[in-house]
Amino acid sequence: MKKRILITTEIPEVAYQRLSPKYQVDRNKTRLTESQLRSRVGPYEALLILADPITREVIQAAPLLRCIANYTVGFDNVDLQAAKERRIWVTNTPEVLTEATADLTWSLILSCARRMPEGERMVRKGKFKGVHALMLLGADLQGKTMGIYGFGRIGQAVARRGRGWDMKVLYYQRHREPPAVERRYNAHYVPFERLLRESDILSIHSPLTQETRHRFTRKEFRKMKPTAIFINAGRGLIHREKDLVQALRKKWIFSAGLDVYEFEPKVAPELLRLENCTLLPHLGSATVETRNAMACLAAENIDLVLSGRKPKTPVFDI
Ligand code: GLV
Repeated sequence: MKKRILITTEIPEVAYQRLSPKYQVDRNKTRLTESQLRSRVGPYEALLILADPITREVIQAAPLLRCIANYTVGFDNVDLQAAKERRIWVTNTPEVLTEATADLTWSLILSCARRMPEGERMVRKGKFKGVHALMLLGADLQGKTMGIYGFGRIGQAVARRGRGWDMKVLYYQRHREPPAVERRYNAHYVPFERLLRESDILSIHSPLTQETRHRFTRKEFRKMKPTAIFINAGRGLIHREKDLVQALRKKWIFSAGLDVYEFEPKVAPELLRLENCTLLPHLGSATVETRNAMACLAAENIDLVLSGRKPKTPVFDI
């Protein structure tokens, strides 16, 4: 009998094409809730998931499970401890999405700096009456200071793009990168407080952990420059949304660019009413090439595990 795999949501066909000759692959189209997952996962040895909540209870309901393949780089949706205890491989899709996510981050930066959504709305509403010297004035980016919170692959790819604008790069995370990495990006490791005070653009690229959860609240926004642009294309829970709303409303900062939300997919209604933010629907890795590469990698990880080998991109060793 073929081993069974559940793909919990629609992803590029290529994953199915790679797995279906060898395995029995079931595909679900709509997103499953945690309780639906619990009742579905029983017969499967592998799950290919997109940010589904894989709780201890879901894992307990899957006695045959050997691999949880995340179709994302972040894996805060999985109870890692419960998976470890059962010696279940958890994998993610790093590297293949780095450049696309860094591009999206820069789209947000440019969009905020040049107030593109406001301009777009103006044109669409028929309110554009000709060029005006004082209309929608934004911010220059040339030579500004880019602050990066979480200087991993994506943070570094964002910093690399900043060279095009001769930016000064500051970064903060728990550990300092080796000198060669700092030299490569001309990046300076600074205390968190300095990152807040000196960044013209502050972009979040850390994983969501106990330590980074709600790292950006009222207190932090208060310390930022009134001209600063806050970007989050990482995880919404790293900032507190109601505090960000207050920061934008009271103009403690200039603008925010978000691809993720604290209560995703819900977005704070106040945020929707504010002009000084760009809001995207979690598009970080959403290009054809990248999403295909992620699907191939997730499928390869599953195939390796179900063939008795180590996956290519495990989140931890078992
Ligand atoms: C997207 O959010 C990812 O973690 O890949």
